Amino acid sequence: MCGIVGIVSNKPVRGRLVEGLIRLEYRGYDSAGIAVVNGQGIVRRRAPGKIINLQTELDNAPIDGTCGIAHTRWATHGRPNKENAHPHQSGSVAIVHNGIIENFKILRQELAQNGHVFATQTDSEVIAHLIQFYLDRGMDEEAAFLACVERLEGAYALAALVGDANQTLYAARHGSPLVVGFGEGEMFVGSDAFALAPFTKRVLYLEEGDSAVVKIDAVQVRDQTGALVTRDIQTASISAVMAEKGNYRHFMEKEIHEQPEALARTMAAYIDPDSDLPIMGDTGLLLKNADRVVAIACGTAYLSASVGKYWIEALSGVHVETDIASEFRYRTPALSKNGTALFISQSGETADTLAAMRYCNRAGMGTVGIINAEESSIARETDAVMRTLAGPEIGVASTKAFTAQLAVLAMSALGMAHLRGRLSDEEIKTHIQALETLPELTRKAIATKTQCEAIAPVLAKARQTFFIGRGVYYPLALEGALKLKEITYLPAEGYAAGELKHGPIALIEDGTPVVVIAPSDPLMEKTVSNMEEIAARGAKIIAITDTAGAEYFEDRAEHTIILPDMPGLTGPIVSAIPLQLLAYYTALELGTNMDQPRNLAKSVTVE
Ligand code: AGP
Repeated sequence: MCGIVGIVSNKPVRGRLVEGLIRLEYRGYDSAGIAVVNGQGIVRRRAPGKIINLQTELDNAPIDGTCGIAHTRWATHGRPNKENAHPHQSGSVAIVHNGIIENFKILRQELAQNGHVFATQTDSEVIAHLIQFYLDRGMDEEAAFLACVERLEGAYALAALVGDANQTLYAARHGSPLVVGFGEGEMFVGSDAFALAPFTKRVLYLEEGDSAVVKIDAVQVRDQTGALVTRDIQTASISAVMAEKGNYRHFMEKEIHEQPEALARTMAAYIDPDSDLPIMGDTGLLLKNADRVVAIACGTAYLSASVGKYWIEALSGVHVETDIASEFRYRTPALSKNGTALFISQSGETADTLAAMRYCNRAGMGTVGIINAEESSIARETDAVMRTLAGPEIGVASTKAFTAQLAVLAMSALGMAHLRGRLSDEEIKTHIQALETLPELTRKAIATKTQCEAIAPVLAKARQTFFIGRGVYYPLALEGALKLKEITYLPAEGYAAGELKHGPIALIEDGTPVVVIAPSDPLMEKTVSNMEEIAARGAKIIAITDTAGAEYFEDRAEHTIILPDMPGLTGPIVSAIPLQLLAYYTALELGTNMDQPRNLAKSVTVE
């Protein structure tokens, strides 16, 4: 989950290398650096922490050139400091790397026995030394680069400056994404198309095992067998404008407010405008006959899968098993060849989810990706893709991607029910008409932001906050806790409302905030009973409900966030918004960086 950029150009590259890094900072920000080739060979500048520190370093000690590479780091091996910052250099070689080299210790020993001295604790540094090792044995730059790549085990997206071949970038990918961009009189490499969007939208996506030699006006790609191949040049769908903050203080704030339009865009992709029935495409065939579904993801995406389970089982009668990707393939799951596996991911590059998807592909299952990043690895490798059309999500905390995932899962459940004849056309249309009110409902939910901001100080000073819910609101409770934890660094727990009395209620003390997610549904009164149990022990109740449910909380809740009535499957989607707002305003109260929280990165591309 680091970000890499490379540019070979007929004009200076330093400024745009840094601009590309800034657009990749969401992938990691423990340190940053650039290396350029100028009259004196390769020169580097590196700095710990965010890219602004590198900019200060460059202001104090400017370097520039017409060919260079750059890196922003999320530390895996070696502390997040300047010494371990990329680019790493050995002699006339500099490299930037995203991923993990799993055999780096063996390579490091071998190179040390051949006189190589290492300056860092990282796995990545061996790459620079290994290329130099082959240069020293008389190989030319491309041969030395390819010989090195041949020896690497693990995940990597690489860009390198090698030997005297200045005005040339060497690149390779295996397990981590890498894009080649086509400019006018210049060429680019980057971790994703978003990084290159201000420079070019004409890109090609290197495939697993590809390597590339990138010169100022051409690229030569070899596949993992070493054969020359052609990869299609595409127009990236990312608009630089879409990715800017606009007049919001943070990307997270912007993305919370973008949910009405993101939902409208996403819903429209799955509703036939003539029949008002679901459009399922290739996914329909994979879901129509599946004897069971497994839904696999990580983090917030896993919680959207958990909500989807309730809907798919209730509406289509098909058993759904959900699992977190990092556990799934290591437990030897009992898979069915007639089953279909759903992989939900905003980035489409999460290593655990990608590995689980490949495991299911190998097991012969039908695989469907519910993905936001169109040109991502999971989107390219699944049998069918259902896009969430949330647009680029930059804030590390997933907001609009989460609600868009829920919308796609709701349509999938309805599509399956329709294909299996479980619901009549009329029943399906009623559900879809309810879902089509999501933009309006979410706009009303966003209007609770003033109330959420007023509640934030309560959460900001609490030792611990609980979130509880039943049914589809149980995963929402988990999501509310995750949002709060990941951007405020405060302890928070999500629980099934009926579960607190089996132990966790011991943690409730006078003034403990408990967010009770209970719109008026058949389970609400049971949730209210659970709320009574904790209120009797001093809990400070913050209720999230709807107009019909408000009366149940009048004299019991310190704060009641009243959402509009939410028909059909809209409840969990709309209820997510006050949870996002509570976390956002609590983080604002505490002054944490909610777009780039400590220790986190937007796309976790290592296991
Ligand atoms: C969500 O707020 C977190 N940032 C994190 O849990 C995220 O959902 C998870 O890492 C999965 O990412 P993905 O959707 O890109 O696969």
